[in-house]
Amino acid sequence: MGEGSGFGKTILFGEHFVVYGLPAIASALGDTTTATVERAQLVEGQKYVLVDNRPATPNYKVQKRGEYEALIENVLNFMGVNEGIKITLAGSLFAASGVGASAACAAALARAINDEFSLGWNDEKINDAAFEGEKGPHGTPSGIDNTAAVYGGLILFRKNLEGGQNTMDKMRMKAPVEIVLGNSGKTSSTKEVVADVKRLKEEKPDELSVIFDEYAILADDAKSALPENNLPLVGRLMNKNHELLQKINVSCAELDELAETALAAGALGAKLTGTGRGGLMVALTPGRELQEKVAKAIEEKGYSAMKTRIGV
Ligand code: PMV
Repeated sequence: MGEGSGFGKTILFGEHFVVYGLPAIASALGDTTTATVERAQLVEGQKYVLVDNRPATPNYKVQKRGEYEALIENVLNFMGVNEGIKITLAGSLFAASGVGASAACAAALARAINDEFSLGWNDEKINDAAFEGEKGPHGTPSGIDNTAAVYGGLILFRKNLEGGQNTMDKMRMKAPVEIVLGNSGKTSSTKEVVADVKRLKEEKPDELSVIFDEYAILADDAKSALPENNLPLVGRLMNKNHELLQKINVSCAELDELAETALAAGALGAKLTGTGRGGLMVALTPGRELQEKVAKAIEEKGYSAMKTRIGV
């Protein structure tokens, strides 16, 4: 039996600004998806058997079934698997939108296939396979999710606006840090929200250019604060990043309430993470005790909270 795992991810800085070529920083999460692969006798027409034991948002697996089928087929084709196999997914990463669940799955599956068929692939080739897998759910993925899923740590990401290869530099923190992800309970469309920012940029070019310049300075500070584990500064920069995201109109009442609740309970920083207008809020909560306190405060407001770590 072959085994493998892949990390979840969260965007700490730079969602939306990244679309216009500014740097974004994502971190792998302490929670992973695991995959096992074993040879199996299949009925005719069947390519694999999937057992999905991951903890997940209700309905997530049903809604995403087609995307996961495409993901698995892409990985199997890329890795040249044409024998019947049984794939079992599990692990502690809660499968939900915004935590890189599909990339974690693609990375885990590629590693398990590599193990079962003794392919001897290195991380770079595993990452290529996971990227192929990501094309199933995402069409044209940026590559940040699969890179975090395969390598862990922090990824400084810059989109190539000319359409060539994006740059992804790996960074490390001195030690992992606890975070809380608060779930707004709302789903939003990345495509729509990204299009709204583009419209706003066209309507108010001068205002937006000031906001983008402020983000560029903030990103530079974050780039040095994270590897030094300067958590008070990281927290302040997260708060500032949330304000800038509010100004470009991608937050919502629920995300603002989540961030305010986390800060009131003692979080060092809090911001929306990912697309916005729904999805998740990330709060910096070093230490188990603070993490517990912030998660509890969020749950008391009727939201769900995920406790995990960055910089793993
Ligand atoms: O919601 P997520 O985790 O898929 O992140 C989207 C990030 C955006 O910057 C809004 C879009 C993008 O393609 O970078």
